[in-house]
Formats: sequence, C-alpha cells, structure tokens
Amino acid sequence: MRRRYTAADVAVLTQDEASRFVPSGAGDPRTDITLAWELLYRLEPKLYDRLVNAEHLHPGVLGWLPDNVDRIVEVAAGTGRLTLELVHRGREVVAIEPAGPLREILNQKLVQADHGHRAQVINGFFDDLPVPDASADLVVACSALTPAPGHGGEPGLAEMERVCGRGGCVVIVWPNEVPWLAAHGYRYVSFDGDMFVEFASHEEAIELTEIFYPGVVGEVRRRGWRWVPYEVLGINPPCDLAFKVIAQ
Ligand SMILES: C[S@@+](CC[C@H](N)C(=O)[O-])C[C@H]1O[C@@H](n2cnc3c(N)ncnc32)[C@H](O)[C@@H]1O
Repeated sequence: MRRRYTAADVAVLTQDEASRFVPSGAGDPRTDITLAWELLYRLEPKLYDRLVNAEHLHPGVLGWLPDNVDRIVEVAAGTGRLTLELVHRGREVVAIEPAGPLREILNQKLVQADHGHRAQVINGFFDDLPVPDASADLVVACSALTPAPGHGGEPGLAEMERVCGRGGCVVIVWPNEVPWLAAHGYRYVSFDGDMFVEFASHEEAIELTEIFYPGVVGEVRRRGWRWVPYEVLGINPPCDLAFKVIAQ
C-alpha cells in the first residue's frame, strides 16, 4: 500500500476531502498511509471492497447492536459491511459516506439486497454531519473514527453525539483508540474467540496479503492458507466496540 500511489494521485480528492486529508496542502501517500487508504477508496474501490468482504465482524458485535430502533445514522459507511446488517434493525437508516465510489458500491448492494428503499446513502464527513440534532436512536461508525481531526477527532465525536437523541446510543465498532473514547465516557465491550480474515480462496489470500500485508504473504503461501489469523497480520480483530448512552 505504501508504494501503490504517488503524490500525483492526490488530485483525485475533492476540495472538501483535501481540506481534511491533506490539510497542509501537499500530501504523499508513500509517507502517509492514512492518505494511501483514502486514495484506495477513490481509485480502486472494488479492490478495497474485496478486502472488506473477507473481514467479517464478530457475531458477538452484531448480536450486541440494538434491534428494532426507529432511526439509525451510520457514519463512514464505506461499502456497507455494517450497513447491510443495520437495514433490518431500523425503520429508517441514513448511511453517510464521503467517498463517491464507495457510495456507488453501497447503493448497488442495497438495491441487490432489496433494501434500497430503507436506507438513504448520502455524502458527508464526521465533523459536519448532514443530519439534524437528536434525529437518531442509534448513531454508529465502524472502523473509521480516529482521534485525528481529518477522520473525526473531537469534532466528529461531538457531531455523532449531537445527532443522537436522548436515551439513544452512540456506538464505535472496531475502535482504534479505546483510551481516547474511555476519556469521553465510552464503555468498552469485547468478544472472545479466534478470528481470521476469511479470503474467498488461497489465491485471493496471496493476492490481497501481497498488497495489504506484504510481510506475511510468504507464510500465507507456505501454509496454503485461505483464512489468515488476525494475530499473524498483527492487527486487532473486529471483535469489539465502545458505546455511550446519551443522557435523558
Ligand atoms: C476502513 S473504512 C470502513 C468503512 C465501513 N465503515 C466498514 O466498516 O466497512 C473507513 C471509512 O471511513 C470513511 N472516512 C474517512 N474519513 C472520513 C471523514 N472525515 N468523515 C466521514 N467518513 C470518513 C472512508 O471514506 C471509509 O469509508
């Protein structure tokens, strides 16, 4: 990933995106891995979607999320890993996602799953959510919010809480910075069990680890793996969440 894109590719970002992802004006995806991921979403969204399709959320996380809520807002919905799980749970679901190519894939998936009518997919950023105050019972983000202002930060967390009605719940699934969330009053829940990135085939495991986890592709080849343990990849598995109930 560090060598996949060059500074010239940054031109794909819109002005709104560039102001968040390259606030200094000049960015280089070879030295800024977060920027490289943003370019992946826009330049090779299908490649990104293939990776996400292999990274299933822990069933405990899905079981924990509330069912039967009125209105759900999901921020940074991507290609819908969580959105497709949420559409059954709310009367109305608003999925906010800034990357146009990811919104397109998500819309296609919702239509294919016959849920196009239930979920609305819209453009927006953590720090300026295009939804009214206290308009949702569940406000959720998965594998997206970080303390960095370009990816939410303090303004993003405050926006998620603004949008959540009293007695409603803000949930950060697969959080990357638990102590930061704990300092903001979030409680942490984690589910046990071995977890794997579940590629569709051994060939796909080789192809995608070569791109996303080049340090382990040798082991994947040698062991003939299709499923790769998260501990081998050296990343936390998607088995946890942090949540806050908004005071009545
Ligand atoms: C790793 S992906 C996760 C996508 C999806 N939530 C999932 O779990 O599959 C991170 C997502 O955050 C979105 N994102 C990045 N910066 C953002 C921002 N400032 N505001 C809203 N979304 C953002 C990206 O476009 C991308 O869809």
